[in-house]
Amino acid sequence: MSAKRAAWSPHSWSDLPIKQVPEYPDQVALQEVEAKLATFPPLLFAGEARDLKKRLADVAEGRRFLLQGGDCAESFAEHGPDHIRDFLRVFLQMAVVLTYAGGSPVVKVGRLAGQFAKPRSKPTEKRDDIELPSYRGDIINGMEFTEEARIPDPSRMLRGYRQAAATANLVRAFALGGYADLERVHQWNMNFVQDSPQGHRYEELANNITESLAFMRAIGITADNTPQLRQTHFFTSHEALLLGYEQALTRLDSTSGEWYATSGHMVWVGDRTRQPDHAHIEYVRGIKNPIGLKCGPSLEANELLELIDIIDPDNEPGRLTLISRFGAGNVEKYLPKLLRAVKREGRKVVWACDPMHGNTISAESGYKTRPFDRILTEVQDFFAVHRAEGTHPGGIHVEMTGDNVTECTGGAVAISDAELSNRYHTHCDPRLNADQSLELAFLVAELMQKEREAAGSFPVSATA
Ligand code: PEP
Ligand code: CO
Repeated sequence: MSAKRAAWSPHSWSDLPIKQVPEYPDQVALQEVEAKLATFPPLLFAGEARDLKKRLADVAEGRRFLLQGGDCAESFAEHGPDHIRDFLRVFLQMAVVLTYAGGSPVVKVGRLAGQFAKPRSKPTEKRDDIELPSYRGDIINGMEFTEEARIPDPSRMLRGYRQAAATANLVRAFALGGYADLERVHQWNMNFVQDSPQGHRYEELANNITESLAFMRAIGITADNTPQLRQTHFFTSHEALLLGYEQALTRLDSTSGEWYATSGHMVWVGDRTRQPDHAHIEYVRGIKNPIGLKCGPSLEANELLELIDIIDPDNEPGRLTLISRFGAGNVEKYLPKLLRAVKREGRKVVWACDPMHGNTISAESGYKTRPFDRILTEVQDFFAVHRAEGTHPGGIHVEMTGDNVTECTGGAVAISDAELSNRYHTHCDPRLNADQSLELAFLVAELMQKEREAAGSFPVSATA
């Protein structure tokens, strides 16, 4: 199918055409930084990426669910411990709800510890009469609208690396050090259910979890004797966009003799950089990490199959996660033909739904926003199409934060267009806030329960 490719190396991408690449004025400084990064410790160890791949293989087989989420763009400004902790708290809360509803483990993958570089729809930004290079994420240039800030600065990569290391370290400590204690996470969910205007809708599910925990306690299964109740596995991911940075952190694993990106457990290729004969696809084909691929409306089935051949020639379950992002109202138009082609070819992939990137609109106030009901509609349509096609809706991929921001409109504690300006902090796309994220998790939980009912594996309740 695809043309024969030359041998892969961590830098073979650099011979190919590339999109979304920053123009560094100081090439010597860039090379110095990349050479330095290449001497720094890896941010993870290849065995962990293999562990994630095994879990994703279970998702591909329909035995687990993937929850992937975090900031659209991490920023140097929002690097406080509270930001990370509050994200993790909401993320773990979502995972508990989804685990119960799906009756299967949730694979937890954060968009964090490296999610800095951003593809942009235009290379420049114009305000009044001034035109400057677009902001491309804190690892490349600054957000302020000044000529100086917008110049790509290679030293930002060193700062990005150090921030990623500190973030990954704190997340590990939280995941393993007791913060993920199931009873505690569930208590936070009970508080949410009590406080949310829509809380009564989620009460039954929350009470069922309370009962399950009480039952386990009664028979002697507690956090003291069962590590699974107080610890969790948490993985990192980001878009592999800035290939110089990725290359510097690509390392040969001595156990397997294979190359791994050590910048994050999973990396994905965005919808704007997935051309089969371009640099980003070339880079990811040679690393052994789990790989994500964003699938937008312009992706045709034959091109998807070509990409699958390149990225996953061995049809290895867990290797490839296809993240569809079509927009509410478009799922039925675009997803079935991709699902059918993949199924026809016997390809084992994870299907996840990103209900964010096809649903960005400009509010009247001028803010870029995403209406909560459109996000929910895209997820509902994703589940419906999978049900109709007999495939597994494997996961969701969301832009979210644990902070109380006002970036997406709607939700049970409805945010109006006029309120967007109150706490609009994102460095790129609008994120779900803590309440909206949890609300989405409870609503996805309802979809999962319906799916299990339909499959005859879950007598939810007589009334549900
Ligand atoms: C993103 O995930 O932040 C992103 C830019 O997505 P996409 O490539 O799907 O537009
Ligand atoms: Co985004």
